[in-house]
Amino acid sequence: MSTLAALAPSQEALFEADLIAIGFIKNDSLFEFPAHKSLIKNLEATFDVSLRDELNFFSATGKVGEIFEIPISSSQYALDRIYLVGLGDESESALRGAGSALGRKVRGKAVELAAICVEAKSKVRTFAIALNLGTYQWNLKTGAQIEIPALSVVTGESKLLEEAATIAKAITRARDLIHTPSNIKNPKWLADEASKIAEENNLHIEVFAGRELKEFGGIRAVGGSSPKPGPRFVKISYEPAGKKRSSVLLPHVVIVGKGITFDTGGVSLKRPYENMTAMKSDMAGAAAALATISALPELQPKVRVTVLMALAENALSGSAQRPSDVIKHYGGTSVEVINTDAEGRLVLADALAYADLNLDPDYLFDLATLTGAATLGLGRQYAAMYTRDNKLAEVLHSIGELNGDRVWHMPLVDEYSDALESDIADLNHTANKGDYSAGSVTAALFLEKFVGERNWVHLDIAGPARSESDTGENPKGGTGFGVRLLIDWITSLS
Ligand code: BES
Ligand code: ZN
Ligand code: ZN
Repeated sequence: MSTLAALAPSQEALFEADLIAIGFIKNDSLFEFPAHKSLIKNLEATFDVSLRDELNFFSATGKVGEIFEIPISSSQYALDRIYLVGLGDESESALRGAGSALGRKVRGKAVELAAICVEAKSKVRTFAIALNLGTYQWNLKTGAQIEIPALSVVTGESKLLEEAATIAKAITRARDLIHTPSNIKNPKWLADEASKIAEENNLHIEVFAGRELKEFGGIRAVGGSSPKPGPRFVKISYEPAGKKRSSVLLPHVVIVGKGITFDTGGVSLKRPYENMTAMKSDMAGAAAALATISALPELQPKVRVTVLMALAENALSGSAQRPSDVIKHYGGTSVEVINTDAEGRLVLADALAYADLNLDPDYLFDLATLTGAATLGLGRQYAAMYTRDNKLAEVLHSIGELNGDRVWHMPLVDEYSDALESDIADLNHTANKGDYSAGSVTAALFLEKFVGERNWVHLDIAGPARSESDTGENPKGGTGFGVRLLIDWITSLS
């Protein structure tokens, strides 16, 4: 992963870089450089260049993504190029676009890039994260030499960049896990990765396997389809450093992640088969939850956080569950399995019930690539968010509009609940009674049966967890959606 650091706004530090990038805007017909004006003046004098003349020469418009390369020289410094980067209207979303476009320019190159963009704190952070994400690469090509840029952003406040680096590292971590192919990342592999990450970051972790999963009927029913190595349930907890006794009074956030390491659909095999190739991403919820908690020891929010990863492969095999099976979830609810491709809600049901019955959460979240219906409704730019807490929904919505992990509040339509009735069990799991459609809503209604009276938020991230193209901040494949939303919300609590 590219490194990301703060650079003090001094001439010496800046001119030693291989490459300097300067953000510009166009107001009416005038070009402006919104940050560190005197530094830029010095630069123009030292290298005998007028950046405004250059922009006029290129007929620059200042729109996001516009980047001009200006050759420069001086007897004193090796520096020989400047990038001028259009910052659009300097909104957070414009800075994400500008930062990631610049990151893409240096992706895979071993250069030291110093960027001067804006001065407003939250915007420096946004730009820096996007710059880093734009350099993201993942592949298993033989002999590929991985060259990594060293990124720095000019600011007087180094703490901002430390935060940005922590968040970018977490998102990168989630992306790496999602990109890893499913022949490598079985549930045990993912639990082992979680253990390594927990150890590196001083987080407490417990991994449940085999007989320890006796009561987890949903996880066993799905994961039994791939008995070697079989499913796992991972619990990781964070507490801020300092007095343990007083931390009991802090709010407790529990985040459950769907971790299906590959989703064939099981006996209800996915068709057409092209629908299956993206299903190595079906653990993106668990990856986002793990990545989020991995960032907390560096950020030290005054909150208790527990992550629960429900890890299983949904394979087609002789030990796979059958449509018409009845299973018993954690806590005792019996469920009639209708379509084995709706496996996500089965593993989540156990984890949600476990959280409700054992962890006393003040907030209970789940993140899951749960339904194709969510993507049909909202596309890939928004996650479908379900919660009865309208205030919390508003807060999450506005955080997402700012940081790019956008969520749309969807209704838990009570009238659709009778679709969950079963003649032979407490519930049927695909809400196949009645003819309501609304696949994402009825999946949420099913999950709600397992959260007790908790303050619960369900994020169906089937759309935004994966990008179909390599553009903006996102590579083709896993995006790391949810990490920024959760980190920004958790840190806003303290
Ligand atoms: N993992 C899929 C949902 C999914 C689909 C995620 C496309 C990302 C992209 C999930 O397990 C699934 O198969 N859901 C079914 C549920 C149905 C059988 C009730 C679906 O959405 O079709
Ligand atoms: Zn499925
Ligand atoms: Zn799935």
